[in-house]
Amino acid sequence: MKKFFITRRRLLRTSVSSSVLFLAGCATTATQPMMGMNHGNMGVGAAKPMEMKPHPGRVPNEAFGADVDIVLRAIQTEVALLSGRATQVWRYEGQVLKGDNGTVTMLPNSSIGPIIRVRRGQKVRVRFSNQLPDKTALSVVHWHGLHLPEDMDGHPRIAIAPDSTYTYEFEVTDRAGTYWFHPHPHGDTARQVYRGLAGMFIVSDDEEQALKLPVGEFDVPLVLQDRVFDADNQLLYLGMGMMGGMMEQMMGFLGDKILVNGRPNAGLDVATRAYRLRVLNGSNARIYKLAWSDGSPLMIIGTDGGLLDKPVQRHYLMLSPGERAEIFVDFNKRKVGDSLKLVSLAFEGAENVPVPAAYQSQMRGMGQMMMGGEALPLGHAFDVLTVNIRRDDNQGGGYTLPIAFNQVPRLNIGDAVNAARPRLFEIDHQMMNWRFNGKQWEGDVAAANEQVKLNTTEVWEFVNKLNLGEMMDPMGMAHPIHIHGVQFQVIERTLAVPELQPGYDTVRAGFVDDGLKDTFLMMPGERVKVLLRFKDFAGKFVYHCHNLEHEDQGLMRNYQVQ
Ligand code: C2O
Ligand code: CU
Ligand code: CU
Repeated sequence: MKKFFITRRRLLRTSVSSSVLFLAGCATTATQPMMGMNHGNMGVGAAKPMEMKPHPGRVPNEAFGADVDIVLRAIQTEVALLSGRATQVWRYEGQVLKGDNGTVTMLPNSSIGPIIRVRRGQKVRVRFSNQLPDKTALSVVHWHGLHLPEDMDGHPRIAIAPDSTYTYEFEVTDRAGTYWFHPHPHGDTARQVYRGLAGMFIVSDDEEQALKLPVGEFDVPLVLQDRVFDADNQLLYLGMGMMGGMMEQMMGFLGDKILVNGRPNAGLDVATRAYRLRVLNGSNARIYKLAWSDGSPLMIIGTDGGLLDKPVQRHYLMLSPGERAEIFVDFNKRKVGDSLKLVSLAFEGAENVPVPAAYQSQMRGMGQMMMGGEALPLGHAFDVLTVNIRRDDNQGGGYTLPIAFNQVPRLNIGDAVNAARPRLFEIDHQMMNWRFNGKQWEGDVAAANEQVKLNTTEVWEFVNKLNLGEMMDPMGMAHPIHIHGVQFQVIERTLAVPELQPGYDTVRAGFVDDGLKDTFLMMPGERVKVLLRFKDFAGKFVYHCHNLEHEDQGLMRNYQVQ
């Protein structure tokens, strides 16, 4: 029995009411398929596509005194991912000029870039060179989660043209943790990440090392992404559906094949011992509800900004695009030959939310729309990774996870300058555009309500609004919100629309807000307060939705620290 639903994503493969087609028809002109340079701004009422001028680049500063010096090139290459023809990808290739050889590890036969490992306190130089074959493809590297000066953070304005170089030089001051890097040119981030430009950036420090967590081959990065391949094993991106990919951009692009570390059908061979898994959701738009297939609880030891104070157990963990989680698992009770799966469980309410009766009278222009089949809709269950127990470990005595780690350096809400009146960021959807406080990306602009003071602590409150009266997205959808330059605390979540409780109840136990975060998932109708402090660096930094299609489409703004 199909309900009174607004089916947006599914419109792609279905016939739809003529009014929807009319709206869509108005909006397609600025939208281009994968190979075109898409500068976002696709919707009705959107500004003209913003021209991005390439940044001239930056040469090394010899006085910097790099401990680690790396060349990082964005190139096109081919990898054998599926049987048959190799897949053309874009990928970062790293090379160590100075520093430990373990600083850069390329993943074998992978569609994605290297794992970079550094220590807190190290001075890191990365000579980024844009060698993409698409000569219109500006690119820039953003160090997601790190606290860096504005000219090192990978702001869209620093995107360089093909065949030029930008040298990043920064000191790593962040706690030990699992960070990552990816392109950030406005309007083209989603495509570049989708084609393979992404890597993990792992920071360690003495404090963490003293805890003696599993290291080396027992400390495993797991980057989760979803992709669509054509019959010829090539990546398909926007434009598969009707309307030239417009609907996919509005909702976020979902693949039907799950890649782990840039490989489809991934397996992980393990020994009967303890492991630390560093999981990054590097997908453009897919949200995971992670769990072990046999129902054992997940032991979560870290989030975006490093380890928690102590391990927490969850039956499932929500991981939205951009977020990281560290999972501890001990296979010592398992037998060689056994296997276990990391899966994503079904959940509801992230999109296609049924309109509660109480709101139906406030809506206009909706009819019953037909459901279509999408290969792997958001919220459906699927397998992520098969773990095969392959060998006995003879580390006699086993491993005991510490019951507590180091104290998370928390902020004090009493220090916030606006605890009583948080700075408000309302997300809504109007005329096919996602917006923060009624505004989309405006290049370098930071509005009056986006000015903050250096060395202050603030509370920011994000509101994921309903869009009553909007034909395409009346109940809103889930957004992973990311703020550059800071690690913050999620201090409060409230569901402002009780009618959405049933969907919320399928995800809420999977939020881990105990530690430091740079990205958090917001469900439709949810209000989330975060506590953050602006320190060290003045300048402009972006905040945005990490659903990369939303970001490219304009759900991104600057905040200015001064
Ligand atoms: Cu991982 Cu501004 O992004
Ligand atoms: Cu970031
Ligand atoms: Cu979003």
